[in-house]
Amino acid sequence: MIAVSVQNLVKEYPRPDGTTLRAVDDISFSVEQGRIFGLLGPNGAGKSTTIKVLTTLLPPTAGTVLVNGFDAVAQPLQVRNSLCVVLQENAVEMFLTVRHNFLTFGRFHGLSSAAIERRMGRAVELFGLHEVLHQKPIDLSGGVKRRVQVAKMFLVDKPVVILDEATTGMDTFNKRATVNAIREEARSGRTIILTTHMLEEAEELCDSIAIINHGRIVAGGTMDDVKKMGLQMFYLTLKFNEIGKELQELVQKFAPVKLDIVDNEVNVTVREHHTALDILSLARSTGALKHFEITTASLEDVFVELIDRKRAAEGR
Ligand SMILES: Nc1ncnc2c1ncn2[C@@H]1O[C@H](COP(=O)(O)OP(=O)(O)OP(=O)(O)O)[C@@H](O)[C@H]1O
Ligand SMILES: [Mg+2]
Repeated sequence: MIAVSVQNLVKEYPRPDGTTLRAVDDISFSVEQGRIFGLLGPNGAGKSTTIKVLTTLLPPTAGTVLVNGFDAVAQPLQVRNSLCVVLQENAVEMFLTVRHNFLTFGRFHGLSSAAIERRMGRAVELFGLHEVLHQKPIDLSGGVKRRVQVAKMFLVDKPVVILDEATTGMDTFNKRATVNAIREEARSGRTIILTTHMLEEAEELCDSIAIINHGRIVAGGTMDDVKKMGLQMFYLTLKFNEIGKELQELVQKFAPVKLDIVDNEVNVTVREHHTALDILSLARSTGALKHFEITTASLEDVFVELIDRKRAAEGR
């Protein structure tokens, strides 16, 4: 069964000079019930705009949005009733205790205080929030704040859950627990749509994704499809006390996507994590390695790669 369907969605905003900005430009995707779908893209791509139309906060300029079989324009109340939306915490929530955050969220979704108290136990347990229940998010670390936000989806039973950047900024340990909890919810039949800037995060969580840029889908499909496209890249920064002449040649053997050597610093981009590790061990064997860092490429880099490939395919 299709839980969420977005067909040829267009959303335009008026600009002050009288022209229009097409923030969402003909986007289509659908999400099966019980699946986790990721909407990815850099700042300004149109993720939140899409989410706002999905949640009936904004009317579409054109196209159709169905949630749980209900039309977002014709049946907004039924759509809202099918949804649990978790956004980044707003200013008011920052100053309420975690417990009051949960109570407010539950009440907003029509639960009685008794029902919320019952459900709160599970949410607190899942996300290890016992100790912070009487603290305010403003006083908590970024990662714990995120956990409080995500825990809210466990308070209500709506079939479709939307997490707008809710998982960004958690540390690895908490992320693991959160990923497991979200996966379990999906297995029990809830459909989850999340937005993120981070490909890596989507890889861990999502069954399928759409990458959007300037309001258009530039890549999409199941996570396996996307992995096969080889979009993920790794950056390796190596700082040496001194660099021998042979290093460049040795690193070239690994066929890096990019290699820059300036003074005693080497920057390498590769497609495989294991290649980055191989180069690192080569660097260590020189005995002159002072500092290293491995990071994953940002979505922006992925777009550059996608656009380059498109140009190459078109012979430009
Ligand atoms: N209410 C609005 N009025 C006019 N323009 C808007 C409005 N909201 C968003 N935009 C513009 O629409 C485009 C898409 O914005 P949107 O917030 O959907 O992007 P996003 O992908 O969620 O970005 P971010 O990662 O920064 O949250 C941007 O160019 C933005 O400036
Ligand atoms: Mg946004």
